[in-house]
Amino acid sequence: MSTYPVFHDSLLTGKVAVITGGGSGINLGITQVLARHGAKVALLGRSQEKLDAAVAGIAADGGTAMGLSADVRDYARVEAAFQQVRDARGEIDIVICGAAGNFPAPALGMSANGFKAVVDIDVLGTFNTCRAAYTHLRKPGASIVNISAPQAFIPMAYQAHVCAAKAGVDMITKTLAIEWGPAGVRVNSVVPGPIDETEGMKRLAPTPEARERVVQGVPLKRLGQKQDIADLVLFLCTPAASFIHGAVLVCDGGQSLLGAGTMASAAGLRGEK
Ligand code: NAP
Ligand code: COA
Repeated sequence: MSTYPVFHDSLLTGKVAVITGGGSGINLGITQVLARHGAKVALLGRSQEKLDAAVAGIAADGGTAMGLSADVRDYARVEAAFQQVRDARGEIDIVICGAAGNFPAPALGMSANGFKAVVDIDVLGTFNTCRAAYTHLRKPGASIVNISAPQAFIPMAYQAHVCAAKAGVDMITKTLAIEWGPAGVRVNSVVPGPIDETEGMKRLAPTPEARERVVQGVPLKRLGQKQDIADLVLFLCTPAASFIHGAVLVCDGGQSLLGAGTMASAAGLRGEK
């Protein structure tokens, strides 16, 4: 996956990392980079098939990985999964909360259950994961990274659920940073911009024309790559980031600087209906 050398490759030797939603997309990119740097990784997601494929890929790349089927909305299952990781690998150093849901829909075309599905996966799922992880974290030195989105601070039509959910995720980050900082557990959010070849981009910009509009709305005039996000997460999990805590770090080529109108119209989500 590496297309360019950024860091030397043993930054996380001896570390154990748990990544929710690690079976695909941006989170799989993060998982692969953490594994390549020596972390033993555990992937959580609903589809065991997807996890098995991801684990096989990491093993083929020389990494150590396990995949555990878990719906992050189910606290008991998440708690049991963390216990399984602890039993198999020992104390846990890194937790990435990446599991999320999204579909574009106007508020009037979104049922209460549709709104709830996304809020539950993103907000409750992040809370459940952090809460279940805490007992097993190697403290101090542990690093939690919650994967947010620009919708947390930029309103976007057809994204009422995601805007509410990711704002909630960032407030969980900041609250836990205050509560858990004294124990040495760092908690941060990472905000990916539009990342190429991901489910999120397929859902929000499904045509070549929409994709090109998104590119033109990014000051750097390109989409992000999964490795752009993975390298930022990697940095946050090393001692080089030991004073970065409770932060919301944006990695979007400058897209969010241009604000709501640009992002919404780039993705074709103008909200006129
Ligand atoms: P993705 O591949 O669909 O990743 C989402 C992952 O979450 C999947 O592996 C999915 O696996 C898992 N998941 C969903 N619901 C779950 C649940 N209830 N319990 C456990 N796992 C669950 O999408 P992506 O586009 O790469 O997005 C990854 C992250 O980046 C998300 O947090 C997203 O909000 C954020 N993000 C993406 C972009 C972008 O451009 N793509 C931009 C900003 C932020 P299962 O279906 O097998 O459970
Ligand atoms: N438009 C409007 N409503 C939609 C919808 C869409 N495109 N897709 C799903 N919904 C609604 C469903 O109709 C249902 O509401 P209802 O019971 O009132 O009919 C509700 O959302 C829940 O759907 P369901 O399929 O049962 O939820 P789920 O928990 O199995 O899946 C989703 C959650 C809907 C977010 C699903 O898209 C998913 O699993 N996404 C994960 C991957 C992803 O979204 N990746 C993108 C990057 S985060």
